[in-house]
Amino acid sequence: MRLHGKTVMVTGGATGLGLAFAQRLHADGARVVIADLRGASQAAQSLDDSGRTAQGLVMDVADEASVREAVTAVGTTFGGVDILVNNAALFSTLVNKPFEEYSGDEWMQVMRVNTLGPFNCAKAVAPHMKAQRWGRIINVASTSALKGLANMAHYVTSKGAVITFTRVLARELGAWNITANALAPGLTLSDQILKNDDHMAKFGEAIRKSRSIQRDALPSDLVGTVSFLASEDSAFMTGQTLCVEGGAIFV
Ligand SMILES: NC(=O)c1ccc[n+]([C@@H]2O[C@H](COP(=O)([O-])OP(=O)(O)OC[C@H]3O[C@@H](n4cnc5c(N)ncnc54)[C@H](O)[C@@H]3O)[C@@H](O)[C@H]2O)c1
Repeated sequence: MRLHGKTVMVTGGATGLGLAFAQRLHADGARVVIADLRGASQAAQSLDDSGRTAQGLVMDVADEASVREAVTAVGTTFGGVDILVNNAALFSTLVNKPFEEYSGDEWMQVMRVNTLGPFNCAKAVAPHMKAQRWGRIINVASTSALKGLANMAHYVTSKGAVITFTRVLARELGAWNITANALAPGLTLSDQILKNDDHMAKFGEAIRKSRSIQRDALPSDLVGTVSFLASEDSAFMTGQTLCVEGGAIFV
């Protein structure tokens, strides 16, 4: 129970990787808040239907007021967010195509959720973390940003920004004993991406073959790293990007 007494907020935690992170952190003893556009209450109930150690909140990461309201609500129920997992993003629903074929609106929509979102959430939780001189921010990036993966320019670029933002947070928050690190998965078989046939057809086999450990990645392959980054075991590590993709790239 390495996270006993801590409160975690997992954005976009109602499905996919976010739900797997929430389940692991809850099993580690944390109180878990799942914040998502939809399905948050049901997901929280699946962790603890008494509501004592899990809470679901409707929250839009791209809307500063919505984020502020949710973080205030966590202050009331659980005392504040000690550990933030910035997981929400536009990903599994995106259409893959050459960069010239994206409209400016498509580009900005991805940037709003995937870059403004983590910024809004970090900004909202920082005062509580600073006041207690302890905090963990875990930003979910992607190895695609380090590879420069083709045919998802807006998404890949947004995840590059997440890695850079992580480094800035590390520099700006280190004095308060708050760490910020990024988890960079590769293509991982979450429930929603499995429904995107085009994405799986374009990337599935090639990505599998690019790995040192040549198999599919599952959400369960990632949760241990998130647990480590949330815990005291990673106390002297900040600004780092941990690639968890079976040795597809070495950084
Ligand atoms: N699955 C993969 O292959 C993979 C690989 C690398 C990185 N990632 C990253 O991991 C994270 C989770 O991926 P996933 O496969 O579970 O994605 P997903 O698309 O299945 O789930 C994303 C979640 O975010 C929520 N969300 C979207 N917009 C939101 C908003 N404005 N406010 C709040 N919540 C919002 C959705 O409702 C959903 O629950 C994302 O950051 C993604 O970029 C995923």
